[in-house]
Amino acid sequence: MPDRRSIFDSGYARVPHDFYATPAWVTETLARSVALRGPIWEPCCGTGAITEVLERHDHQVVSTDIADRGFGTAGIDFFSCRAMPEGCRALITNPPYGDSGTHQGQNRSPSAMLDFLRHALALAEPVRGQVALLVRFQWIAGKRAAALMSAAPFTAVVVLTQRIRWFDMGEDTKNAQHHHAWVFFDYETPPGRPPVMLFGE
Ligand SMILES: C[S@@+](CC[C@H](N)C(=O)[O-])C[C@H]1O[C@@H](n2cnc3c(N)ncnc32)[C@H](O)[C@@H]1O
Repeated sequence: MPDRRSIFDSGYARVPHDFYATPAWVTETLARSVALRGPIWEPCCGTGAITEVLERHDHQVVSTDIADRGFGTAGIDFFSCRAMPEGCRALITNPPYGDSGTHQGQNRSPSAMLDFLRHALALAEPVRGQVALLVRFQWIAGKRAAALMSAAPFTAVVVLTQRIRWFDMGEDTKNAQHHHAWVFFDYETPPGRPPVMLFGE
C-alpha cells in the first residue's frame, strides 16, 4: 500500500482532521480572477498554502485554524468567531468539506459546507466584505446551496477546468474525481447585478 500524502506538502499524511493542502495554482487562479480587498482572513489555514499565495500577491493575511499545524494561530474554531479579525475585509479558505472525514469541532455532515458559508457571510456582511470558498463544482447545484447563494451578494464563480489532485500516490496516483470552483461574494457588489462565471486553470 503506497503512502498517501498531500501532493502539495509531502510532510503530511492523508486525512488526520480532514486536512487537504490547496495547490498554489488554485489560489493563483482566484487572485487573478477577482479583485480582492485586504486584509484577508484565512480561518482554516492548515499549513498556510492559501495564505502564502495571497501574501505573494501583497495581501496582508490573518491565518487561524482549529488545529495546530505549525502555521498561523491554532485553537480558533471558526464557528465560535463572532466577527472577522480586526481590519479584515475578506475571508478566503478551502474549508473542511465535512463529508470526507472528521476533525475536532466539525461534525461529519453533508450540510457542513452550507453551515460554513452561512457563517462566513454573516461575518462578512457587517464589514461590507468579501468571501471566497473553494467548493466542489457539483455542490453549487444543490437546492439549498443555490438558495443560500442567491440570497447573498453572489458575485462570481471561478470554475477550475483542471481537476485538483489532492494526493500523490506515486505511480498509483489516480485522476481526480471532482471539479472544483471558487464561489465569490462581495457585499460591495451593487444589488441586482448577476454573478459572472469565469474559467481558470
Ligand atoms: C481542507 S483543509 C484546508 C487547509 C488550508 N485552508 C488549505 O487550503 O491548504 C481544512 C482545514 O480546516 C481546519 N478546520 C476544520 N474545522 C475547523 C473549524 N471549525 N475552525 C477552524 N478550522 C477548522 C482543519 O484543521 C484543516 O486545517
